[in-house]
Amino acid sequence: MSSTPYQLSDATRARFDREVAKYPAEQRQSAVMACLSIVQQEQGHVSRESEDAIAAYLGMPAIAVYEVTTFYNMYNQRPVGKFKLNVCTNLPCQLRDGQKALDHLLNKLGVEDGGTTADGLFTVQKCECLGACADAPVMLVNDRQMCSFMSHERLDDLVDTLKAHAKN
Ligand code: FES
Repeated sequence: MSSTPYQLSDATRARFDREVAKYPAEQRQSAVMACLSIVQQEQGHVSRESEDAIAAYLGMPAIAVYEVTTFYNMYNQRPVGKFKLNVCTNLPCQLRDGQKALDHLLNKLGVEDGGTTADGLFTVQKCECLGACADAPVMLVNDRQMCSFMSHERLDDLVDTLKAHAKN
């Protein structure tokens, strides 16, 4: 399958330059996570082509960039919906209905784990510990907003609120 090479725009390169400047010259690779985050902010996800461009820009092997992207599941390796819903299913949350919360969302929105609704609004996926185990079930909206004690009722309310938000 052929793909269009990802070209760093001047504006993106300038943002990368600012991140690289925070490190000693011989450690420019330390900016890899920041560069990946910039691409995700701009593109909504991190494509393989953009990873290759970052590797070239930072002077590091492409495989080392892939390792970062695949280790941290906040990096989207494919396009996601307007709202990305990550539900924690690690053990402490499992013991307090984390899996049930995930299953409820998947059933409600009619998607598989990691899937996106046909209208492009929601991507639902399980995730690793969010560091709020005592608040289980917990989830994260768009990698930013933590939601605690997510009963089925609260999940339904959240989906309704986000749908309403999307219309505005
Ligand atoms: S195990 Fe779910 S937040 Fe820690």
